[in-house]
Amino acid sequence: MANDNIQYLNQLLHESKQGGGETAIERQHAKGKLTARERLTKLLDPNSFQELDALVTHHAVDFGLADKSTLGDGVVTGWGTIEGRLVYVFAQDFTVMGGSLGAAHAAKITKLQDLALKNGAPVIGINDSGGARIQEGIQALGGYADIFLRNTLASGVVPQISVIMGPCAGGAVYSPALTDFTFMVQGTSNMFITGPQVVKAVTQEDVTMDELGGADVHTGISGVAHFAAPDEDTCLTMVRTLMSYLPANNLEDPPAVASKDEPMRAEQALNDIIPANANEPYDMKAVIELIVDKGSFFEVQAPLAMNMIVGFARLDGAVVGIVANQPMALAGALDIDASVKAARFVRFCDAFNIPLVTFVDVPGFMPGVAQEHGGIIRHGAKLIYAYCEATVPKLTVITRKAYGGAYIVMSSKPIRGDLNLAWPSAEIAVMGPEGAVNIIYRSELEKAADADAMRAQMIADYREKFASPYQAASYGAVDAVLEPSQTRAALINGLRMLANKRDTNPAKKHGTMPL
Ligand code: HXC
Repeated sequence: MANDNIQYLNQLLHESKQGGGETAIERQHAKGKLTARERLTKLLDPNSFQELDALVTHHAVDFGLADKSTLGDGVVTGWGTIEGRLVYVFAQDFTVMGGSLGAAHAAKITKLQDLALKNGAPVIGINDSGGARIQEGIQALGGYADIFLRNTLASGVVPQISVIMGPCAGGAVYSPALTDFTFMVQGTSNMFITGPQVVKAVTQEDVTMDELGGADVHTGISGVAHFAAPDEDTCLTMVRTLMSYLPANNLEDPPAVASKDEPMRAEQALNDIIPANANEPYDMKAVIELIVDKGSFFEVQAPLAMNMIVGFARLDGAVVGIVANQPMALAGALDIDASVKAARFVRFCDAFNIPLVTFVDVPGFMPGVAQEHGGIIRHGAKLIYAYCEATVPKLTVITRKAYGGAYIVMSSKPIRGDLNLAWPSAEIAVMGPEGAVNIIYRSELEKAADADAMRAQMIADYREKFASPYQAASYGAVDAVLEPSQTRAALINGLRMLANKRDTNPAKKHGTMPL
């Protein structure tokens, strides 16, 4: 009898593992997509997956659903480990009713979200779904609402990661949008509120699914997604890499490792990296890579707003969040996209105890009608807000230009920068020499017979006074001016000094961030 019982159980579990069956699995593979279980196997450490709710079914009856039931109800949920650390995971199974979400499917996900919040571990969701299960009506919509609520409550408590590996349409996109990082696969995943047919009907625009909401669009234009991968294997490896930088929850520090890179390594190449001409660009990514532990820089949202670099790295094995202006794009000016990209990253790092290291070479906010009308004032304010409220250790290196409001924004001393360093090439002033002289000496220059010579002299005077770090250093607005080659050692010493930093913001329900 017992054996029959066990046989029956095994039969049920076997059935649950088949999802939508062989033909549907073949169709999934033919699209270049893995199944939900195959994805979890690749994402997690070998044999670490523990399944929950394998025997859940829906209890809907309308529109033929009474006869259409699959064990597991189109989503595989459970927990496992990545590099030995606990994560909660769900993977929608497109082979079962297109991975569509009904009440039971949603309840499996929310059970997991509740566990993650109580136990302080990240949630990674793999999305591959036709959206709300149409036959279940309000029950399906309510299921999404339950997920959104938990996404919001878990925000800033545990890292939440979304991996889009198929369709993600309609309101379904808002769960990924509420999470911290979204990954997409080029060619097989898309996200949109309404698909090409509805777009055509409403706006008469002809657009393909990929052009409307593919991986490149969302990582390079909309900023909805953070990482694009050429295939599913690469994508899941990238998720594992990201996880290696993140703490399990907001009460933990990010995972430190033993670094093989010499902490006090002097990097002579940095002494010659700034061009003699202040208007010539150089690659800030090269600066970052020379300073952080070798090979540790993991860039986030690389194709979006390339004038701003954000990403994770390690300094002597400790995780840091890097924010840096990139002089090779728009001269490193702060525009709307750069401000929002960096603001979001700064807030994530602050929420999860990741110290911020900011590299500054910024000529100012980006001028122009499009920027003003687009709300650069409001969006730029987000970055100021993010840096001002951040209480994690904040270290800053001014490599060259730090002008005007953009100087203040980029983790300056007055907005609670903890350790602000400048290279001898730093220029810290209200604005650049040419613009400044044209404003403050306009009437003198208009009257002067030899305006050009006079202007040149004034620019030289201004440059001597302000186009250096020494006026700022004399006021303590930078804590030290250092030889660029010493930057790695200075940052690591600074991080060690700030290791026990405690700072708080005034008690409040929450701020009113300029969204
Ligand atoms: C029920 C669905 C479904 C859905 C797909 N299926 N989407 N069943 N509810 N939302 C079923 C199909 O009937 C089919 O069942 C199987 O899944 C596979 O779908 P196909 O259409 O054969 O696959 P494919 O050609 O690859 O197309 C995939 C698709 C398409 C692009 C996702 O299925 C589609 O357009 N689905 C509807 C998408 C949609 O409009 N969803 C509602 C979005 S609004 P059989 O039995 O034939 O295998 C939304 C609101 C959320 O989600 C609100 C939150 C607040």
